Amino acid sequence: MKPIVDLVAGARPNFMKLAPVLRAVRAADRLTPRIVHTGQHYDVEMNAVFFAELGLPAPEVELGVGSGPHGEQTARILERYERWLTESRPDATVVFGDVNSTVACALAAVKLGVPVAHVEAGLRSFDRTMPEEINRILTDAISSCLLVSEPSGVANLAREGVNAASVHLVGNVMIDTLRAELDRARSLPGADSFGLEGGAFGLVTMHRPSNVDDPAVLERLLRLLAELAEQLPLLFPVHPRTRIAAERAGLSGLLGPGRRLHCVEPLPYRQTLGLMASARVVLTDSGGVQEETTVLGIPCLTLRENTERPITLERGTSRLVGNDVGRIRAAFGDALRGAWPKGEPIPLWDGAAADRVAGVLGEWLA
Ligand code: UD1
Repeated sequence: MKPIVDLVAGARPNFMKLAPVLRAVRAADRLTPRIVHTGQHYDVEMNAVFFAELGLPAPEVELGVGSGPHGEQTARILERYERWLTESRPDATVVFGDVNSTVACALAAVKLGVPVAHVEAGLRSFDRTMPEEINRILTDAISSCLLVSEPSGVANLAREGVNAASVHLVGNVMIDTLRAELDRARSLPGADSFGLEGGAFGLVTMHRPSNVDDPAVLERLLRLLAELAEQLPLLFPVHPRTRIAAERAGLSGLLGPGRRLHCVEPLPYRQTLGLMASARVVLTDSGGVQEETTVLGIPCLTLRENTERPITLERGTSRLVGNDVGRIRAAFGDALRGAWPKGEPIPLWDGAAADRVAGVLGEWLA
């Protein structure tokens, strides 16, 4: 019998990483994969839309945990995934990225003696105020198969004393999805379908606690976006966390539809990719978008003070601008003037990372 592996998905950024791995594991035919969905993200546009677009089958099990404070959400995932593990034990659990579902399922599994593989292991922002950084450190510490997307991850794990035999530089599985979907993405309606003025536009995504949870910071950033949009129309699909934070702070008026700054609900994967590929500039605090813009060669203003994906700074198109108005304004000007690195191809971000993941998993569980 082929070993059974649980592939764990919970939040939006997990889905485009899981999809190519599922496909590759099935093609290699050495393991029996099952999708476990924790339900961390549940809105149709944060979840079901992605499953449909990526051709993902219905999960084997849905844990339905929903939202909550960190401790509560993590605890709920732990409890419900543990129950699933005791009822229907797999031979291994594969977790992706750095969200609460990642660390919670890894912890539940390892405590029951189920070995854990971590896809996107080793990344470090060295900023422990980020919930994702805690999730990364803890997940790596209890995983026995570490699948790494960029060389910094290998160096970080070596420094933390991880046995090199457990560490595999496989490349970036999310970029497999990008490469598979790009042609179709480019053929979808562009930014003009939203009624933005003119042809050229910028794309904005922003949802990190450091940018949206403090009303003063959020207001400063939203007013700055409105100002920048006078130079170049901006399209802003608004993450639910940001929408809720703005409502709470009485700033919803700054998140409306407009001809210069146009805010919309979260968009599907392919449409977002198509917009990203045709944007003059992207402003984001998302880790995944830093990587995607690097591959697409689009200037990316990263609204953070640090990144766990340094290759996007060293060889890609990302620049850290924090949430400081002056820095963002200056970088925006540079991007519009074309004073920006073009980026170079990143080794192993070649569209075949999931095949390497499937190969490593097959050997590991043989
Ligand atoms: C989570 C991840 C973050 C990732 C992001 C991508 C953690 C710690 N954070 O952040 O790393 O970049 O997903 O989207 O795991 N909400 C909805 N509908 C949903 C999901 C959430 O309305 O389908 C609202 C809820 O009010 C919730 C809030 O958004 O409280 C935040 O959701 P949560 O999953 O806690 O964190 P994200 O900010 O989405």
